[in-house]
Amino acid sequence: MSWLLNSSIGKKLIMSITGIALVLFLLFHAAMNVTAVFSADAYNTICSLLGANWYAVAGTIALGGLVAIHFIYALILTIQNRKARGHDAYAVSVRPKNVEWASQNMFVLGVIVIGFMVLHFSQFWYKMMFTELMGHHEVELGGKLVSPQDGAAFIQYYFSQAWVVVAYIVWYIALWFHLSHGFWSAIQTIGWNNLVWMNRWKVISQVVATLICLAFAFVTLYFYARHLFCPFA
Ligand code: HEM
Repeated sequence: MSWLLNSSIGKKLIMSITGIALVLFLLFHAAMNVTAVFSADAYNTICSLLGANWYAVAGTIALGGLVAIHFIYALILTIQNRKARGHDAYAVSVRPKNVEWASQNMFVLGVIVIGFMVLHFSQFWYKMMFTELMGHHEVELGGKLVSPQDGAAFIQYYFSQAWVVVAYIVWYIALWFHLSHGFWSAIQTIGWNNLVWMNRWKVISQVVATLICLAFAFVTLYFYARHLFCPFA
């Protein structure tokens, strides 16, 4: 077992497994959010299931663990790679033609993705699940009191503000680059590839990354457009 924690390939395997689990969460989270476009009631039912229930709290703790492990191992591997490259790490380097930009910037992209998560959590998770866990049945949102399970009200409120919409779109772009390389790289580390499948997995990774980010962007832009064109809807 110690090879898993100590060897470079073991650490990469841990990153791959946690990364794929996070991609599965994002597929669910993006699909869940699209529901808000079609029915506020359906969305709020999902939000109430994901509120202060033991299984939802267990899920949140598990997700936090996955993000922490993924990040800590990324940090360890990045530091190890830097050390291995020695002085070259600081030399001006020209990127070889067949090396993607994202593959060289995965750590920075990951830090950006986590950075925006702090904003997202302060707007949604903190005012929803955390508020409920604290035993409150109402929370202040833009001068009004709403239920912490009223996810539709939160979406409507935040995505009517241009700066929030811009920040989230920047977030999705960083997420797209991170996922499009990360998913493919994880599959490669796990070993589910050969010459034919390597290119297929590359395409599949881009499709998965695009589906996730487009779904998030669709929800964000839909509610902003609704605020602009039908402010009383
Ligand atoms: C359209 C964009 C998005 C919307 C409307 C949205 C909405 C929400 C809502 C309503 C919650 C609170 C659920 C609850 O605790 O009751 C939540 C939690 C969360 N969101 Fe998002 N989200 C969006 C994008 C994202 C993105 C892009 C990520 C990650 C890159 C993300 C990661 C999370 C995580 C990790 C949680 C905590 C989940 C948990 O407590 O188990 N969200 N989001």
